[in-house]
Amino acid sequence: MESANTYWADRALLEWQVELGADEALEEAPIDRYALNVPVEKPVEKQEDKPQPVIHRPVEVDAVATARTAADAAQSLDDLAAAMKGFEHCELKQGAKSFVFADGQPGARVMIVGEAPGRQEDIAGKPFVGPAGQLLDKMLAAIGMDRNAEALENAVYITNVLPWRPPSNATPTPDEVSMMLPFLERHIALANPDVLVLMGNTPCQALLGRAGITRIRGQWAEAVGRPALPMFHPAYLLRQTAAKREAWADLLTLKAKLKG
Ligand code: URA
Repeated sequence: MESANTYWADRALLEWQVELGADEALEEAPIDRYALNVPVEKPVEKQEDKPQPVIHRPVEVDAVATARTAADAAQSLDDLAAAMKGFEHCELKQGAKSFVFADGQPGARVMIVGEAPGRQEDIAGKPFVGPAGQLLDKMLAAIGMDRNAEALENAVYITNVLPWRPPSNATPTPDEVSMMLPFLERHIALANPDVLVLMGNTPCQALLGRAGITRIRGQWAEAVGRPALPMFHPAYLLRQTAAKREAWADLLTLKAKLKG
């Protein structure tokens, strides 16, 4: 009986407290609410108030313009070789053993432009010294010319569109050709040949703006203001020996031009 009385008395007391506005029950022991790990809401920071991170973007370099400036500044073949060697924008440089600039006689009437060094040229640091180069030497000898001839009228000067060997002798990409073209053009100006011989599609595309060597070979064109004769590349002649007939005709065309 005693407990029922207590229940009704307690309940009446509680209802009276609710009426007075009590909305939570107190615990036996006090709670330190500051010690509770309640997430504190941070004031929202506006984007423009935040310190902005400094982003270091790589500066975009115009490799062709850089090459043009370096090439135009070269006043001699030695200057040009140094400028090309120091040019860091062509990735082929990283994979190549050697920088292959030129061979033969600067000042010769004929300047031969090939594609790029192959394995043997990369090892030797000289253009056209492998099997294709040996065939080239025989072709030149057949019309009385020699890269080592002392007399400039019988000599030739030899270079390539690219001075570094592409991995696995891949065909040079348009980007590689365009970034090295200013150097090639300056190379031709400084070597000052009477005529150019363009061996295969890559130098034709670079200097004439068109390829299709089977159609254009043997016909004089103009490259950087000089007569230019497209010919089959000697490496192609090693694979397609029947094409040597046309190559012989082209060599006679070259000889006739030099006589004329
Ligand atoms: N092929 C080229 O075009 N150039 C060389 O120097 C050797 C092979």
